[in-house]
Amino acid sequence: MEKFIIRGGNELSGEVEISSAKNAVLPLISACILSSDKCILENAPFLQDVFVLNDVLRSINSSIEIKDNNMVIDTSRINNTEPDGELVRKMRASFLTMGPMMARYGKFKISLPGGCNIGTRPIDLHLKGFSALGADIRIGHGYVEARAKKLIGNKIYLDFPSVGATENIMMAAVLAEGETVLENAAGEPEIQDLARFLNKMGAYIIGAGTDTIKIVGVKELKGIKHRPIPDRIEAGTFMTAAAITRSKIKVNGIIDSHLKPVIAKLTEMGCIIEKDQNSLVIDGRNSLKAVDIKTLPYPGFPTDMQAQIMALMCTVKGTSIFTETIFENRFMHVSELKRMGANIKIDGRCAVIEGVENLMGCRVNATDLRAGAAMILAALAAEGVSEIRDIFHIDRGYYHIERKLMKLGANIERIKKMED
Ligand code: EPZ
Repeated sequence: MEKFIIRGGNELSGEVEISSAKNAVLPLISACILSSDKCILENAPFLQDVFVLNDVLRSINSSIEIKDNNMVIDTSRINNTEPDGELVRKMRASFLTMGPMMARYGKFKISLPGGCNIGTRPIDLHLKGFSALGADIRIGHGYVEARAKKLIGNKIYLDFPSVGATENIMMAAVLAEGETVLENAAGEPEIQDLARFLNKMGAYIIGAGTDTIKIVGVKELKGIKHRPIPDRIEAGTFMTAAAITRSKIKVNGIIDSHLKPVIAKLTEMGCIIEKDQNSLVIDGRNSLKAVDIKTLPYPGFPTDMQAQIMALMCTVKGTSIFTETIFENRFMHVSELKRMGANIKIDGRCAVIEGVENLMGCRVNATDLRAGAAMILAALAAEGVSEIRDIFHIDRGYYHIERKLMKLGANIERIKKMED
């Protein structure tokens, strides 16, 4: 298994380019199922999660080719409605194929998504939406099967503004008969990007980005070319790298309106952030102060940045209170941070962090994607050498993060083979 070796203490400098958003590209790939024309995703990120979803589509006879950074997706020859269960269980976002498959073929059988380290992550809201559109849903033996002669538009209220359920139901409704109104919908930028993509294909969707989305069904959708939005979580992660190493760097290829909550909290801590078109300069060299964080659905503070900011707060004098309202178990990084000398106490969905003078480098594990990113950040600031294992979690959502960090001056190395 691979690992990262990081020697902490380097100041960072220079510029980093942000890649396309993992959480935009995954629903966009699924949305290509809705048309038998070829679709092209430009500047697609080469991430493990993207590779897994591509293999899920290949398992139902779609073809996906990568030609100089573009991903050409052809679903015209899909020949079955039951993707490979092993692949689906590897990555929860495979479940985003269900909506488009229901819309195009009227039936689908898929393995229930595997749980993951950050909580049980049910799919009840997805299935409630599909049933409201007229699908007959059956669950058994680890699979969910859905059948619907024709999906009929309906009014659907989401008990929680679930990102995946909003995306899945939106994709199911675009070819349904009549109008669907999705209330208490999620409004993340990735959902807005998906709605833009579907409308370019010929769908009729209004209100994406608000809590009420209206979809009027159309007969068919055509193939298009699309450049996904940049990854606001990757950008936030590098901004936090600057803050935790008390450095100044430039972050290129961003949409700053997607970063509002992250910019607000880093500024509140004392970072100086200057925005310019599609880039920003963050200066974390001042003495920073402790802030409280409460994760909320967009445009609240993103849960996917919680672990990274917690690593930063471990190095800032004062007391920070973190409240994780989205997932019931997203503090897996706490025990790993404590191995490095962090002072953190957990009480249910709250964590209280007392900043310490120095974190100490040591051997830690990446327990999930964003926890892994947090461990890298902590190691960049820690005294001495850290070894981060299970870095396959990190490769799911960051394309060769070590190359981008090395370019900024970090002392980080990926060790390919690991002696046990
Ligand atoms: C998306 O996951 C993201 N993944 C996650 O990013 C992100 O953390 C999450 O949204 C919240 O912003 C992708 O977009 C591929 P949810 P998703 O449905 O859609 C509960 C990362 O690090 N829920 O909004 O699975 C659920 O249990 C990943 O890049 C139900 O109860 O998130 C959770 O507590 C991690 N029933 C909450 O809603 C359902 O049917 C939020 O889940 C669905 C969800």
